[in-house]
Amino acid sequence: MKLTALSWTILASAPWTSASKQPNFVFILTDDQDYEMKSLDYMPLLQKYLINEGTSYERHYCTVAICCPSRVNLWTGQAAHNTNVTDLHPPYGGYPKFVERGYNENWLPVWLQQLGYNTYYTGKLFNAHTVNNYDDPPVNGFNGSDFLLDPYTYEYFNAYMTRNGAEPVSYKGEYSPDVIANKAYGFLDDASKDPDRPFFIGIAPIAPHSNMRSVPTLKRDTPFYAERHAHLFKEEKIPRTKNFNPKEPSGVGWVKNLPVLSDTLIEYHDEFYRARLRALQSVDEIVEEVVKRLESNGLLHNTYIIYTSDNGYHISQHRLPPGKECPFEEDIHIPLIVRGPGVPAGHTAHVVSSHTDLTPTILNLAGKARPDLDGSAIPLTEKALAKPDSGEHVNVEFWGRAIPEGKYGWIGDDFLPGFGRVGARNNTYKALRLSAADYSFLYTVWCTGDKEFYDMKRDPDQLHNLFDDQSIHLAEDFTIAGRSFSQVHDRIDSLLLVLKLCKGKTCHSPWSVLHPDDAVRSLKDALRPKFDEFYKEQPKVSFSSCQLGYLKDEEGPQHAKVWETVQHPRPGGKQVPFQYEGHWSWWT
Ligand SMILES: *[C@@H]1O[C@H](CO)[C@@H](O)[C@H](O)[C@H]1NC(C)=O
Ligand SMILES: *[C@@H]1O[C@H](CO)[C@@H](O)[C@H](O)[C@H]1NC(C)=O
Ligand SMILES: *[C@@H]1O[C@H](CO)[C@@H](O)[C@H](O)[C@H]1NC(C)=O
Repeated sequence: MKLTALSWTILASAPWTSASKQPNFVFILTDDQDYEMKSLDYMPLLQKYLINEGTSYERHYCTVAICCPSRVNLWTGQAAHNTNVTDLHPPYGGYPKFVERGYNENWLPVWLQQLGYNTYYTGKLFNAHTVNNYDDPPVNGFNGSDFLLDPYTYEYFNAYMTRNGAEPVSYKGEYSPDVIANKAYGFLDDASKDPDRPFFIGIAPIAPHSNMRSVPTLKRDTPFYAERHAHLFKEEKIPRTKNFNPKEPSGVGWVKNLPVLSDTLIEYHDEFYRARLRALQSVDEIVEEVVKRLESNGLLHNTYIIYTSDNGYHISQHRLPPGKECPFEEDIHIPLIVRGPGVPAGHTAHVVSSHTDLTPTILNLAGKARPDLDGSAIPLTEKALAKPDSGEHVNVEFWGRAIPEGKYGWIGDDFLPGFGRVGARNNTYKALRLSAADYSFLYTVWCTGDKEFYDMKRDPDQLHNLFDDQSIHLAEDFTIAGRSFSQVHDRIDSLLLVLKLCKGKTCHSPWSVLHPDDAVRSLKDALRPKFDEFYKEQPKVSFSSCQLGYLKDEEGPQHAKVWETVQHPRPGGKQVPFQYEGHWSWWT
């Protein structure tokens, strides 16, 4: 549907005759929870109350595989290259950067309040939201809040929290996810007392993030769990997939240089994995209690419960120590489960979605569509889910370092005074995850010049990079719609070039930037031989250096050629590149 200025105005101002029509939201956001290592299988209450009663989105992705940038992406509905909150700390990220960029006045909770919602949040919000800057300025947009604060956020038994912007309170000795649980139940009861207004409650415990003490000195550990869960999962091990500590090195750049993991490390990683599963049990209990309270307050039928994580996690895959920040499936493919009015029970949805889509989804349900955001609402009803699947792309990006977790933090070449070795520095990349019925792959361009392409139909473990000489036979065999690897590569590189700069509509329909006549809507359309020359001639995605933040001048070509312009050059001969970035609007 093409929206005109007029229809957008009508849509935007659609009045809600009765506030009671607006649904409530309970949003449970875990920290670093994986999909690929099967963590959901170890959460029986989540299975019972959400998976069996709701829809699991099995192709859901984060777009930046690290906490703060991912959370800002999630709560603003905008790509990280547009928020420019790309790191955990200033100058490139963290709470101060979120504030500096104006999002404290312009993000989901504020928009929900404008739509008549009471809004609440407890747990971790962003990194670099600290015991010192918690009220400078206070977080805006919540009627009730109780935030975990740095530098204690990742200490499971030493939380500091600010309630409604007041002086931080210590919870030393109490188990952080349980503290969050009780605060969440309190907010749920507060919200239920105001029957005239719908509510949104964010619940963000740190489980199953690793325990990390940063003052007075850095100490990295496995996640900590509550005593009542200590007896669980004594025998569990990380799934021994093909990419688990592989014999041959895999990946590119610093990943390719990782040594084989020793038995000592593997043992530690398995215990790390078990600790994660135990830490998640506290979250599992939250799921049950939330559903029960909603039910006893008579609110369950009109409440969407959304369950997801900020990013995924790897442990030992590709020989990696515990951590995230990579474009591998372990890090970007994450759980998303939705239970609520009209959402099919026990259903598995195959639509491709990302965190950028969740704020648009919530706003849609709350009564105000926002097509200016970078995501689009995901289908929730049986009817919407039955429509032929349109989207196939996820735009993934990253700037900065990969940081190892756990006590053997040994990767990388980057030293910081006072910290020592902090990780692998050259971890800046642009990636495209394309997933359709006939093809599924990951394409990544790194700041180092490395490129990766994994054909995930044949190589779901991402062990054979088709750009590697050793995989040349696989590249020679590779076809999509009868076209060769290099023909496919030309197309997807152009798609990535559009996506790395996309904004609003161009993020939803990136092919329309290259083909404004809408003749191309998918990779298959673009693969027609008549476009061969056009795609071959496109500027290629590249970097001139590895930076820790989004420095545009270092990020290669910024404009794609447009098919119509190439076909019908303007009189006078000089080609004018189509400027889409930032200038696209629904009115053009
Ligand atoms: C919640 O906050 C909004 C915005 O400040 C306000 O309009 C609304 O009245 C508040 N709700 C309650 C119950 O105080
Ligand atoms: C990181 O990338 C830069 C290029 O931007 C290169 O000069 C440097 O050698 C790289 N470091 C490592 C360890 O690969
Ligand atoms: C992103 O923020 C950094 C730090 O403030 C700044 O140097 C950079 O120019 C910004 N990038 C863009 C594309 O605005």
